[in-house]
Amino acid sequence: RRILLINGPNLNLLGKREPHIYGSTTLSDIEAQAHQQARELGVEIDTFQSNHEGAIVDRIQETAGWGPNVQETNAPREKVSAIIINAGALTHTSVAVRDALAAVAIPFIELHVSNVHAREPFRAHSYLSDKAVAVICGMGVYGYTAAIEFAARHLKIEGE
Ligand code: DQA
Repeated sequence: RRILLINGPNLNLLGKREPHIYGSTTLSDIEAQAHQQARELGVEIDTFQSNHEGAIVDRIQETAGWGPNVQETNAPREKVSAIIINAGALTHTSVAVRDALAAVAIPFIELHVSNVHAREPFRAHSYLSDKAVAVICGMGVYGYTAAIEFAARHLKIEGE
């Protein structure tokens, strides 16, 4: 099993940005812990962060062997079986990220560090939730651990 962990805009600032909301753990701590956890669970994990909507769309397309970063016309699929995505603010704005996830048809888990329902009203709407297998929010950075555990052990994947 291969899991792709995507973090969107401003999540490179975890640990520095609004620590009262997002805590003091950095993205590199989270990614290092994700690799360690994946090793223990016997799964592969790839991590990707970008502040750019289009780069995130490109990365999602790559899982299906599509998009501008893929050289070969018939490049093999990466065989990603699950995507964990904290799309940051793009959650609330991006039809493009939603469409990319639908295009590759890989089961995904939507994740937020904070409880988006206890904050400004605009954070309560997500373009992703109705297509997600699961939505995690408000667990702090433990949400990443929970998502990886779920993706590795409990997510039923067709054809596996
Ligand atoms: C976030 C919540 C979003 O509303 C916000 O724009 C983020 C981070 C979270 O992890 O809590 O950038 O996705």
